[in-house]
Amino acid sequence: MSDLTGKVALISGAARGQGAAEARLFVERGAKVVIADVLDEDAWKLAADLGADNATAVHLDVSDPEQWAAALDAGREAFGKVDVLVNNAGIYFQGAITETPVERYRKLIDVNQIGVFLGMRTLAPHMASLGGGSIVNIVSMSSFAPLDLTSAYASTKSALLGMSKAAVGELGPLGIRVNMIHPGGVATDMGAPAGVVPEAYKQAPLGRIGEPREIATVAAFLASDDSSYCSGAEILVDGGWTVGTRNPWATAQ
Ligand SMILES: NC(=O)c1ccc[n+]([C@@H]2O[C@H](COP(=O)([O-])OP(=O)(O)OC[C@H]3O[C@@H](n4cnc5c(N)ncnc54)[C@H](O)[C@@H]3O)[C@@H](O)[C@H]2O)c1
Repeated sequence: MSDLTGKVALISGAARGQGAAEARLFVERGAKVVIADVLDEDAWKLAADLGADNATAVHLDVSDPEQWAAALDAGREAFGKVDVLVNNAGIYFQGAITETPVERYRKLIDVNQIGVFLGMRTLAPHMASLGGGSIVNIVSMSSFAPLDLTSAYASTKSALLGMSKAAVGELGPLGIRVNMIHPGGVATDMGAPAGVVPEAYKQAPLGRIGEPREIATVAAFLASDDSSYCSGAEILVDGGWTVGTRNPWATAQ
């Protein structure tokens, strides 16, 4: 069980879903957390649940550089430093290439892609001043094994592969590790809208959708000193989905 005592983590998109699960688990494991999201009410409610000694909330639209600076300030003010960044905030869009409005695509780029870039750009100098830190980028299996009808979304996630890997070399000498998690289907508003789990998840080798806490435990490992020699790692957390294509020639036993 990865210990996070003494760590302070800023988690983007932490008001609900995987980010909220990460905030809860990180506090259980001893960290202080900054819950950063556009959903202020949910963010503050979660912070209150976790207790003022353990958590604070801040309004953050990840596509806005000034709001990133304010989020870092909020973390430093509340807990003195931020040495873990989980770039988790993301939005999804599904649609045929011919039916994807360009403005929708640009919004995906702003949040999923530039949002992660700005997070690293804002936090890296501060982490360097501390002697190092850990950045966990929440990417997706879509970055390398996209489903059809996800060209816009998948391309923003694929961009994070190159961005994260380039950052590994640039930030490593500053003591900053950069790692990636590739979730498959996860039971959140994004993965199971309105709480309805698509039947297709049964085809994954593990036969079910993932739970947000199952991503959070991996994020805790990458945030902790247990992963002190990991940088550039990509951890697939998808129940075997992308590896375990079912055999179409198999006959029912
Ligand atoms: N759920 C899945 O099946 C799945 C699969 C692969 C990858 N992912 C990725 O996991 C991450 C978390 O998604 P989730 O499943 O928890 O979805 P979710 O929709 O439940 O949560 C996303 C969070 O991001 C926040 N957010 C959206 N735009 C924002 C912005 N501009 N600034 C700050 N916060 C913003 C939302 O308010 C929300 O709290 C995303 O990056 C997503 O792309 C999800």
